[in-house]
Amino acid sequence: MSMKPRRVEDRQDHYYWKAKKEGYRSRAAYKLLQMDRKFGIIRKGYWVLDLGASPGGWSQVAVELGASVVAVDLAPMKPIDGVVFIQGDITSKETREMIRGVREKFDVVICDASPKITGHWDIDHYRSVELVEAAFSMAREFLKPGGSFVVKMFQGQETPRLYSEFKKHFRFKKLHSPPASRKRSSEIYFIGKGFGGKFRPKRDDTD
Ligand SMILES: C[S@@+](CC[C@H](N)C(=O)[O-])C[C@H]1O[C@@H](n2cnc3c(N)ncnc32)[C@H](O)[C@@H]1O
Repeated sequence: MSMKPRRVEDRQDHYYWKAKKEGYRSRAAYKLLQMDRKFGIIRKGYWVLDLGASPGGWSQVAVELGASVVAVDLAPMKPIDGVVFIQGDITSKETREMIRGVREKFDVVICDASPKITGHWDIDHYRSVELVEAAFSMAREFLKPGGSFVVKMFQGQETPRLYSEFKKHFRFKKLHSPPASRKRSSEIYFIGKGFGGKFRPKRDDTD
């Protein structure tokens, strides 16, 4: 594994060292592990579409949980057993066609894609909105009825609009910040389960 502590923050970071020790390619792996433990997202035998997947921590976790994975990223990704990797842009039609060429329906769509972070919340927010919308559009095309969706967003003005749009499509919905997210980060994850149709809100809260 070639994780290098590039920032002071990384060198002091518990999850950075834990990932290095436990063989995960990213500290982000713990965010998916924590969300899966809390909400039960991935099961043995599932097909998972992992958007913005490189270097591969979330794909590693999905495979460990018994899933088969189609992973997509602009950047290359070293091979992982059980993962079909597509190098492409999640906002492009060509990438969508390549995914369709591998598999048409998935049990779970996960997206941890990030724009290059500037540290300015507004700019990072607006850049992430395009990725969130692309992931949501993929979820609507590729999820099986009843499927689950997890997507990262950088919070900002558009968050309530995006969340109210998501909410229409899932039985269970939640905005969640896993313990492994950095305290000062504006990132938050939307978790939707029970895709398809329109539902009366049952559980709908934020933590
Ligand atoms: C935080 S990293 C993902 C980490 C990953 N979940 C893991 O555990 O290893 C965000 C990724 O989003 C990717 N990304 C950003 N914009 C993208 C786009 N338009 N299409 C595909 N991938 C994109 C970046 O290349 C980067 O690898």
